[in-house]
Amino acid sequence: DKAGYKHFMAKEIAEQPTVLQGALAHYIDAAGGSVTLPDPGIDFAGIERLTLVACGTAFYACMVAKYWFEQIARLPVEIDVASEFRYREPPVTPGTAALFVSQSGETADTLAALRYMAGKADRILSVVNVAESSIARESDLALPILAGVEVGVASTKAFTCQLTTLALLVLKAARDRGEIDDAILADHLAALRRLPGIMNAALNIETATRDLAQELSEARDILFLGRGAMYPLALEGALKLKEISYIHAEAYASGELKHGPIALVDPAVPVIVMAPTDGLFDKTVSNMQEVMARGGKVLLITDAAGARTASDGVWKTLILPDVPPFLAPILYAIPAQLLAYHTAIAKGTDVDQPRNLAKSVTVE
Ligand code: F6R
Repeated sequence: DKAGYKHFMAKEIAEQPTVLQGALAHYIDAAGGSVTLPDPGIDFAGIERLTLVACGTAFYACMVAKYWFEQIARLPVEIDVASEFRYREPPVTPGTAALFVSQSGETADTLAALRYMAGKADRILSVVNVAESSIARESDLALPILAGVEVGVASTKAFTCQLTTLALLVLKAARDRGEIDDAILADHLAALRRLPGIMNAALNIETATRDLAQELSEARDILFLGRGAMYPLALEGALKLKEISYIHAEAYASGELKHGPIALVDPAVPVIVMAPTDGLFDKTVSNMQEVMARGGKVLLITDAAGARTASDGVWKTLILPDVPPFLAPILYAIPAQLLAYHTAIAKGTDVDQPRNLAKSVTVE
């Protein structure tokens, strides 16, 4: 049931503040001071290394989580796409925990990667939407993301709920490892609890994305740029766009631009820059200016302060509400999704059932 929306994807984008709030209420204790996990739980004090494995959008959630686990919990993380992971035959050292992220919990490559790690890793964790899935059943600890049924083939609310669940796990890990104290943990949890409201406000950019979509839909190629934890968001924006609009889109870490991709820049290739004001903002802006100096047409996605300092000469600016830098990757999923959705509508493609794609990939 589309509940009055034109597509499941539109409904699932709009549902995000609500499902996120449910996920937060599930994992944050009533007093708001700690993260509670289902049995048997995990103590990250005894973990030395974390391996994160997934496919597609779930893999991009893992990429964001790598930045978080390393910066906030000081836990070394390696990540890989599930289709490559087991064929690398990675050696597994004691103290390693493995974490698999999957909406369906049935993705063949992710399940095979989990089975490769069973008996090798100290602990097998999963972050899943379907709680009765194979991946959940075969994990020592399965964390539900509580997104509700996701029908649209392009993943939207599952991505933001995966990120939210991973953010909670990162905070638990940081506390277990003594990297943050109770007061800082409580501050982070309070910020997370404000996120559904901020996300609600961010959905107001829908009209602005609709206005941009016609012009984007005429492009043959589109580039996405981001730095730090915004790099995986750029990848997610490009994946979403190609999945449902069939426009060729690619994402690069902003700093990689001058190592090759800048050769693609010309006025016919829109460049979408995801840059909240954070410690990396000035560097991203200088990459953006390199694009503009070569005639590139830039769509800047930032906050009010970013728009004030960096909008000169850009084609368009989309302004999102302020959010703590740690949580920006969750919020910036909204413009990535809405741009893809409205560009696909402008092209007239089948948004919920894109060609050649299946909701759950149960063959290798
Ligand atoms: C993208 C998308 C896919 C899935 C991928 C993994 O919009 O839906 O890239 O994210 O196939 O699927 P799950 O999460 O079910 O393992």
